[in-house]
Amino acid sequence: MKADVGQMGAAGPAAGAVMLEVKDVSLSFGGVKAIRGVSFDIKRGEIRAIIGPNGAGKTSMLNVINGFYHPQAGTITYKGAQREKMRPYIAASQGIARTFQNVALFKGMSTLDNIMTGRTLKMHKGLGWQMLRYGPAMAEEVRHREVVEKIIDFLEIEAIRKTPVGKLPYGLQKRVELGRALAMEPELLLLDEPMAGMNLEEKQDMSRFIIDINRQMGTTMALIEHDMGVVMDLSDRVVVLDYGQKIADGTPAVVQADQKVIDAYLGVAH
Ligand SMILES: Nc1ncnc2c1ncn2[C@@H]1O[C@H](COP(=O)(O)OP(=O)(O)O)[C@@H](O)[C@H]1O
Ligand SMILES: [Mg+2]
Repeated sequence: MKADVGQMGAAGPAAGAVMLEVKDVSLSFGGVKAIRGVSFDIKRGEIRAIIGPNGAGKTSMLNVINGFYHPQAGTITYKGAQREKMRPYIAASQGIARTFQNVALFKGMSTLDNIMTGRTLKMHKGLGWQMLRYGPAMAEEVRHREVVEKIIDFLEIEAIRKTPVGKLPYGLQKRVELGRALAMEPELLLLDEPMAGMNLEEKQDMSRFIIDINRQMGTTMALIEHDMGVVMDLSDRVVVLDYGQKIADGTPAVVQADQKVIDAYLGVAH
């Protein structure tokens, strides 16, 4: 299991305080109850895994957290402020970034340009200023480039910076998508199955990047992942969903030994 980042100090003075609280959240799509009265929290500095069988409501939960879906019941409290409704761009401007279960990049664009799109929300000056390219806009442009170059270096994707992402192997596309999310300099990073479809070596690389981001940048994370070995290695705490309900919550070791969790994964009748 990984070391406590709070003790390492990487996540700053507020490490360990609750950053996000999900309380009694329910979400339905017509007759489908995707999430049923789920509560859990995410503490600053931790890697919080969300696991559960297909259709358990994991992706829906991330969509609630980042404001893409509005729950019919319950509350989300982020950095001390409760919110009822929030648009994804507001969540992004407040420091929440995400990657998607299925890679969502501009396939015809280069690695560099895709990562630059992650900076869009940080571009405060108007388009006119951007086009004039002097004064404040120029300084901002330089700063954007610096952040992006740092990410390219960090993720070791220098060699593919000009490659259209559609031409990259899947594992590298996932890495570029992670880069785009990092370009937003998030405080809370939501990762939806970042290792799905990867081979062992790609999984190991991605695991290493996730740990390094958490420790070196102090980024708090919610991680949806199916590979129990990865979950055990990376996460501080795990919340388990099944048919939209929370069935377990705790350290990886405790959750893995929980009979309800074992039954859910083995498909025992409910
Ligand atoms: N946009 C949607 N419209 C209708 N049903 C949806 C939608 N998104 C998810 N669902 C349903 O909600 C349930 C949970 O889905 P999802 O959150 O994707 O689960 P998971 O990510 O755990 O596999 C499933 O029954 C799914 O079919
Ligand atoms: Mg999903």
